Order: sequence, then structure tokens, then C-alpha cells
Amino acid sequence: MGESVLTSGFSRVDGAMFVEGVPLERIAEAVGTPTYVYSAGRIREQYRRLESALMAALPDVPHRIHFSVKANSNLAVLRTLQELGAGVDIVSAGELFRAREAGFGGADVVFSGVGKTADELAQALAGKVLFINVESEGELLLVEQVAAEHGVVAPVTLRVNPEVTVESPHEYIRTGEKGHKFGIPYDDAEHVAMIAHALPHVQLVGLDMHIGSQIAVWEPYSSALTRLKTLLASLRAQGVNTLKWLDIGGGLAVTYDDEAPADVERFARGVAEAVRGLDVSIVLEPGRFLVAESGVLLARVLYRKRSGGKEYIITDAGMNDLVRPSHYQAYHRIDAVQDVGERVVADVVGPVCESGDFLALARDMPAVEPGDLLAVQTAGAYGFVMSSNYNSRPKPAEVLVEGDRFAVATERERLEDLVRLERAHLQWRSV
Ligand code: LLP
Repeated sequence: MGESVLTSGFSRVDGAMFVEGVPLERIAEAVGTPTYVYSAGRIREQYRRLESALMAALPDVPHRIHFSVKANSNLAVLRTLQELGAGVDIVSAGELFRAREAGFGGADVVFSGVGKTADELAQALAGKVLFINVESEGELLLVEQVAAEHGVVAPVTLRVNPEVTVESPHEYIRTGEKGHKFGIPYDDAEHVAMIAHALPHVQLVGLDMHIGSQIAVWEPYSSALTRLKTLLASLRAQGVNTLKWLDIGGGLAVTYDDEAPADVERFARGVAEAVRGLDVSIVLEPGRFLVAESGVLLARVLYRKRSGGKEYIITDAGMNDLVRPSHYQAYHRIDAVQDVGERVVADVVGPVCESGDFLALARDMPAVEPGDLLAVQTAGAYGFVMSSNYNSRPKPAEVLVEGDRFAVATERERLEDLVRLERAHLQWRSV
């Protein structure tokens, strides 16, 4: 039997792609396409890699990995991480609800986001989250008001924009440069911190940053941490003695094509050096690193077509299922589930009525034919969560693989689901 490991969790046996012990063909037959398929083993492996790098570098510094739920909020994925001891980083009441459903307790949750509503803040306080990452003076004052109304003291950290240069593949996924909407501008942070310190229903428990996503090098983290440490020292010198958390955010890069992934050992050593002697506990908020490489989007080829001298492979998965190629010009490797010998240079496109609906452009591809299956790789992060119903296309199914078993984690939407919240008979209200 010819067997080769493609990446951890994925292999080919006699030319057919497997996720762990399950042939992708079998999942397509049972569940249909398009379908997201995740390897539970691969998620665990990524978590353990990061956790052991941190344990080795930070044996004496309390630290915790809070999975950034926005990357993949499927309950089965969340439960897999919860069982490993992860916490979560959430950005909405919806993600708080999911985290609870998956078994995370209040102290397992940090609440980030640039536009939290009063209602979301109230839910977070009622849920006793570990802390709220506050991103503006206005939000701080709203937290004070909501906490006062509920007779509680809100634990908050300030998300500071360290205003550093970040190399990442697309400008949309940089968040820590001067002028970005995220965080409190560095020069204002001390002032806002002193306001927080003086408020009766807020306790300033730490500082937070998140500088961007798909960051493969240590330098921007280092520069940003240096700025946060300066601020921390200055606040402590002014008598702010409640600062015990340093939240470093997420951003660790993975390999989509042939780019270098984040060096987690280097990262952990860097964090250790940066926080030595600081007397803080560390929170990390990785999303992509934990789940991206665990997932593929399984799609079927519908048609082949030639137009204007170009070859097209038309699949049943489109930009509504995976928006990253069209939204960020992101590269996702695309493999034939069953090896075919021939190659072709083609645009791989979806059925959506937009010229921007593509999975790959001018790609050297296996010459797949209608009926063949494709696996769009590295789709476990920011895949399903960014899917939509555009063109009234039901959202895809999600499947979790565990050894030689698989389970439907999310059923494919049905046509009735598309109109479930719409009213057949409008109930007019007079004003
Ligand atoms: N913490 C905060 C506050 C964040 O905003 C994010 C991601 C993370 C943590 C996790 O970052 P990660 O470790 O996954 O890089 N949709 C884009 C990525 C957007 C990232 C948004 N924030 C994409 O598909 O590339």
C-alpha cells in the first residue's frame, strides 16, 4: 500500500486523501459537499506544541492559552480545546454564549473587541469573565456605568495600541499600527489608565495588546512588549498596584503555501525574556495557529470550462463558503482528493455570481474533472466562521474527525433555514 503523510493529520493512502484514519471520499459520500472537515488530533497537537514551548520557557510565570473563538467557533472544536485546558478570547455576546455552551466557565473567558455594547458588557459581568479588554475611554466609562448598575467591580485591562510596524500578508490583518481603530493610542494610554484606577466600579488588572495576524517573526511582538512594559512601570510608579495580567494577543502564523510558520519556541523564549521579573501572569489569544491546519474545505468539481484562452474549474464551494481568497487574496493550497496524474493551469472558481468569486487564480492544479473532489487546505481558521448565505446558498456542514471515526458537528443548512426568521405575513405597526 502506498502511503504518504501530507501534513500532520492528513495523508494519502493509494492516492486517496485521508484525514487521520478517515478517507475524505467517505465523508463526501455521507455528508455531501461543500463540507469543512477538521482533525481533532491536529488541533490537540498544535495546542500541545504551544503549551510545551511556553512551559519550557516560562516554568515560573503563570500563563494561559485563550483560544480566539472568532477563528473557529464550532462547539465541537471549542470542546476539544476546553478539554485540553484552554481558555477563550471572545468578541461578542454570541461568542460568550458559544463558550458557555462548550463548557467554559467565566474565569476561562477574556472579552476583547472594539465595539462592545452595554448589553454585552452586562452579560460579561454577569458571567464573571476573567477580564474585559477595554479599547477606549468611552468604553471604560460605559463599563463603569454598567458595573455600578449591577453592583459589581469590573476587572479590566486596557488594550493599548503599541503603534509598531507589523509585517503580515494583508493590511486588513494588521491591528497594532498608528491610526488603527483598535486599542487606545499609546500616548493616551497612561491618562486612560489613571482614570480607570480612580473609578470605583472598575479594577485595572492589566494591559493588553493584539498587533495583527499571521505574524511569523518575533520582532513586532518584542517592540510592542517593550512599549507595554514602559507603560506598566510608569503606572506602577504612580501607585497603580493592581496590574497583574499581561495579555499579548494572538497572531502566530501558520503555513498556507511555503511561508515560514511562527517559531513557537522562539516566541516563548522571547516572551520569557520580555516578562522576566515583571510579576505578571500571561494570557495569549492564538486563533489561527491552533486550528488553521486542522481543517480542509471539501468541495466537488461541477464543471470544466474554457473561456478567453483560460481554463476554469468550477466547484460547488464559493466565496460564501470560504471568503479568504477573494477578500484577502489569500493563498490556500488545493489538492485533488484522489490523485490524478495530469496537471492544468486553471482558475478555481465557485458558483456565486461575482467575478471575485474564486478559490485560486492561474493555479497549477491537478487536472480534475466534473465529479472529482477537491480539498482546500488550511481552512480550519476563518473559514466556516466567515461564511455567508450570499446567493441564498445554505451554509456548509462541519465534520470532526477523531482517529478512524467522524461525526457531523454542524448539519448543512436546509433551504427552510434560509427563510426561518423571515415573516411570510408582515405584521405592520402603525406609528
Ligand atoms: N485577539 C484579538 C483581539 C484578535 O482580534 C484576533 C484576531 C486574535 C486574538 C487572533 O488572531 P490569530 O491568532 O488568529 O491571528 N479573518 C482574517 C484574520 C482576522 C484576525 C482578526 N483578529 C483572516 O482570515 O486572515
